[in-house]
Amino acid sequence: MGFFVTLEGGEGAGKTTQASLLAEALRERGHDVTTTRDPGGSAGGERIRTLLLAREELDWDPVSEALLHFAARRENVAHTIRPALERGAWVVCDRFADSTLAYQGYGAGVPLEAIRAIAKAALGDFRPPDLTLILDLDPGRGLSRVRAGSLDLDRYENRTMDFHRRVRAGFLETAAANPARCVVIDAGQDEATVAVAAMAALDDRLGGAGR
Ligand code: TMP
Repeated sequence: MGFFVTLEGGEGAGKTTQASLLAEALRERGHDVTTTRDPGGSAGGERIRTLLLAREELDWDPVSEALLHFAARRENVAHTIRPALERGAWVVCDRFADSTLAYQGYGAGVPLEAIRAIAKAALGDFRPPDLTLILDLDPGRGLSRVRAGSLDLDRYENRTMDFHRRVRAGFLETAAANPARCVVIDAGQDEATVAVAAMAALDDRLGGAGR
């Protein structure tokens, strides 16, 4: 069985860049690495992603949204994550279930128990990640990074600052409740420093496995 690493965090925290730097570093060490993202990572998951991120007013109810995120995640697990882990590869996933707890739970107010029940129905006893790197950044800074890169903000990027503050608090509470799995990294540092911290966390938490 391979190792399952997820990256989490608010908007503009640099997860996508860090996921590819981490995958590259692991490949340089000779590992077989699969990168994927949530929502997405499979044909069906990518279609659901388009529905979820669309700017036109689909106006999802937050429980429907949580269900769609977990439907996409189930597809990602079935088609990409589980097969890669079973062949012994590393999987680096840009967001996973912690994002639904943070965004739809803490952010949009779906009861956390409801999200846990949806998670159980969608993923069954699928293993939790071996390591979750939470890239923590003040949402004001994160959103200005996003705005600097694009004028076309998606549905989530357009939410209020209060929403994004609750999301951040949700990730930090998740980290505090799961200290063996989660490591919080200050994403306000430059990219190279964050990448070094990510690799150090991986070596520290997963012992020699990543060497
Ligand atoms: P990103 O990963 O490219 O940032 O885009 C995904 C967006 O979807 C992001 O704004 C966070 C949001 N999201 C949720 O609201 N719930 C989820 O479960 C996941 C995986 C993402």
